[in-house]
Amino acid sequence: MIIRPIDASETNAVSELLVTAYVSGGHLSADSPYTLELRDVASRLKYTWVAEVGGNIVGTISLCPPDGTSPAMLSRENEYEFRFLAVSPDSWGSGVGQALVTECEVQARAHGSVKIVISVIDRNERALQFYALQGYTRMPERDWSPERTPVQILALTKNL
Ligand SMILES: CC(C)(COP(=O)(O)OP(=O)(O)OC[C@H]1O[C@@H](n2cnc3c(N)ncnc32)[C@H](O)[C@@H]1OP(=O)(O)O)[C@@H](O)C(=O)NCCC(=O)NCCS
Repeated sequence: MIIRPIDASETNAVSELLVTAYVSGGHLSADSPYTLELRDVASRLKYTWVAEVGGNIVGTISLCPPDGTSPAMLSRENEYEFRFLAVSPDSWGSGVGQALVTECEVQARAHGSVKIVISVIDRNERALQFYALQGYTRMPERDWSPERTPVQILALTKNL
């Protein structure tokens, strides 16, 4: 498996992968407005990485340093964040998600961050279990809800 920055020519493939994975996860409907944000890989190309196996892209993550321009939503000073983690359903359970998160942790340490913070919708049981296995814990005081959307977003964190 190769973990590397996305190539611009892969933008559409990664957009499709994100929507397919989130909808397959059962916590997002295919007609949700959030799919527009998921698909908008072009706006965060600089921060998007992919996992490649046998010449195919099987996963993606957006690494969000606290640089003022990344798509970070939750992080504060000295904190690093990742968003838009997705693995092709065919590849679930084979360590791709873990490899992408590990890459983020390596880069966060190199950046001098002391912790990673992430957001997860409360009904995404598979992701919550996955993050718990990677050592992420709840941070209820930083849970939040998007404006005009009746969903609860859980904040998780891991010290580096
Ligand atoms: C959540 C998600 C990213 C996890 O990705 P994944 O690639 O399936 O995760 P991993 O394979 O790294 O880890 C999952 C399991 O495989 C195990 N595993 C890790 N390496 C492995 C390997 N080499 N071989 C077999 N199993 C392995 C892990 O221990 C873990 O165990 P579990 O089955 O008990 O949970 C993926 O399910 C997904 O894309 N979901 C939809 C989108 C989503 O919800 N994104 C997160 C939004 S916050």
